[in-house]
Order: sequence, then structure tokens, then C-alpha cells
Amino acid sequence: MKGLVLSGGKGTRLYPLTYTRAKQLIPVANKPVLFRVIEAIRDAGIDDIGVVVGDTAQEIKTAVGDGSRWDVNITYIHQEQPLGIAHAVKVAREFLGDDRFVMFLADNVIQGGISALIADFGQHPEWHSQVVLTRVPQPEQYGVAELSDGRIVRLIEKPKNPPSDLILVGIYMFDSHIFEATDAIRPSWRGELEITDAIQWLIDQGYTVSPHIHEGWWIDTGAPEQMLNANNLVLEELAPEINGYVDRDSQVDARVTVEEGAEIINSVIRGPTIIGRNTRIVNSYIGPFSSVYHDVLIQNSELEYCMVLEHTTIKDVPARIQDSLIGRGVEITQSPVKPKALKLTLGDHSKVGLL
Ligand code: DAU
Repeated sequence: MKGLVLSGGKGTRLYPLTYTRAKQLIPVANKPVLFRVIEAIRDAGIDDIGVVVGDTAQEIKTAVGDGSRWDVNITYIHQEQPLGIAHAVKVAREFLGDDRFVMFLADNVIQGGISALIADFGQHPEWHSQVVLTRVPQPEQYGVAELSDGRIVRLIEKPKNPPSDLILVGIYMFDSHIFEATDAIRPSWRGELEITDAIQWLIDQGYTVSPHIHEGWWIDTGAPEQMLNANNLVLEELAPEINGYVDRDSQVDARVTVEEGAEIINSVIRGPTIIGRNTRIVNSYIGPFSSVYHDVLIQNSELEYCMVLEHTTIKDVPARIQDSLIGRGVEITQSPVKPKALKLTLGDHSKVGLL
């Protein structure tokens, strides 16, 4: 089997973070979502992986490389424009050949990985496709499935009136019949070749599409709240490890990971939390469910339930920062010059919640 990872697209819902970065490279619990996807595929025993890239191709290639770090072979597949998930499958046809494959959307995080799913698909050569479904409170934001007697009868992309709360998770398994479907379907109202329509086409032609209902958590990290939510869920499962320096005046909970080169000085860290490489936490409080990425300085400040990305400085902030997603190279400090006022340099679409 081969793996196909979709890492194209623009990530507009994660603006401003994704003005300057591919959304799939935003770290959840200090590891880019795309890396988690590659690891899940590798752990399922697949080492031949195609990565579909678009506008952010160079950034993704620089971060991922040739895959040797994970003992896998990565082939990059260029999609000129994000014309839909089924379009990306079409573009990857040469790479996929006649092999069966798993397609994984690179902004999805799923509890428990995909090893059991891949084994299941491997044991059923008569299945033409297997899709993963899960129940969510707002199905209208996704591809929705209607089942009858345990079989899929209908799939609709982002319907106004969803027929059920079962939605398509971004993990799909196919054999080469999918190319007949991607050739047959036409663009949707949003101008994309929808994978949902392609799978519906398989069902209409009498091909076997097996549904698997996933019971654990699953997150599409497409929006900031979802990103923080994914961060909380992954932190909850992180095995703690102290590889950095913690001084005697600090209190660090049992469920805290301190990465290499990090320093915790006279601070309190409550878990689950991860402090990244070469980050310094000085005279500060880092509350539960926080991910602080590498090369960050947090001094005389308090935060909890936050994600802080690399090379950021948070210094002498008088109020506790909570439920926040703070990007790269950000500076939050007290202004030294009078008049005493809020002085902000914010990128487009930034959101600031004042006391
Ligand atoms: O997350 C699950 C949902 O993913 C499913 O329930 C939907 O049925 C499915 O259509 C998809 O919906 P989204 O609207 O959330 O997909 P999005 O445009 O966010 O793209 C998902 C990933 O695929 C993302 O990493 C970007 C990549 N992509 C997307 C398109 C449209 C590509 O590489 N090429 C593309 O042309």
C-alpha cells in the first residue's frame, strides 16, 4: 500500500498565522500536524508516501525533506491550484499507479493512529474503499454520511440540513477504481472536485465502500479554536520527559515535558504542558494545557491553555494570558516609554481580547 498526504491549499481560516506559514506546519503539542500524519502512516507499516503540495511547496519540502528522518520515502506531487481533494487524487495518479492507498488530509489529527484501519483494509481485498466516520455536533461543516443497515447510502459535502451527525474524517482508503470516479465527477458549487462526490460515484456504480465509525477523538485543525482543542487532546496523551534544566526554585508537575536546552528558572509549570527546545521560562507561571515551542522567552508573566510558537517573547505582562494562540516572533512586553498606553503592531485579521 502507498500513502497520500494532502498538504496543499491556503489555510485561510487560520489567518493571520497562515499568511506566512503552511497550516499543516503549525505545531500541535510542539510537533507539526503534518509530521504527526506522516508518523501515523509510517506506524501503519507504509513507507512509500506521496505528499501533495501547492503554494507552500517550498516550505513543506524544507521542513519534511526526503522522509529519511522517519525511514520513509517521500515523493512530492505538485498541484497547481487547490481544485479539490478529488483533483489532488487525480494529480497523484502516476505516483499511485495501481496500488491500494490511504489518503490522509494533513490538517487532521486522530486518536489512536491508523494502524488498525490499514490492517482491516488489507484483510478485505474485496473492499474498493474504506472511509472513516465520526459523530460531531456541527456536521454541516463537513462531508456528511447517511447510513442504512450499516451501509453508506448517501454522502453530501457541507449540507445545509445534514441528514445525520456522522461526518467523513479526512482519512480514506481506495483501490485504483477511484480514478474512474475522479474522471467522472464534475466540480461542485464551490468549484472543487469533491472527494465526497467521487465516493458517492463509487457507491452508485455498485463498488464496495466500507464505513468505519471512529469512537475516539478526532480534530480538523482548520480554525484557531480547533487548533487549541487539538493541542489539549494531544497534550493529554503526551508521555512526560525532562530533558532540559529545571532549577531548585521551580515547581514542575509530573505531566510536563521540558525539551533539550530549555531552562525553567524560579517558575511554576503545571501539566499537561510542553516547553520546547532552548526556551527560557523565568519567574513565570505556565498553567495546564500549554505548548511553548522552541526559542521562546517567557519572563515575569503568566499563561495557561495557550499555544506559543517559536522565537516569541512574553515579558512583564501584568495579566494572565489564557486560551490564546500566539504566533512566531511575536513580542508582548510592557512599553518602556510614556504615555502609558497599549501599543500594538498587529498583522491583518489579528484578534486581541483586552481585560
Ligand atoms: O476534515 C474532514 C473534511 O475534509 C471532510 O469532512 C470533507 O468531506 C472534506 O471535503 C474536507 O473538507 P475541508 O473543506 O475541511 O477540506 P480543506 O479544503 O480544508 O482541505 C483539507 C486538506 O487537503 C488540507 O490539508 C489542504 C488539502 N488540500 C485541499 C484541497 C481543496 C489539497 O492539498 N488540495 C486541494 O485542492
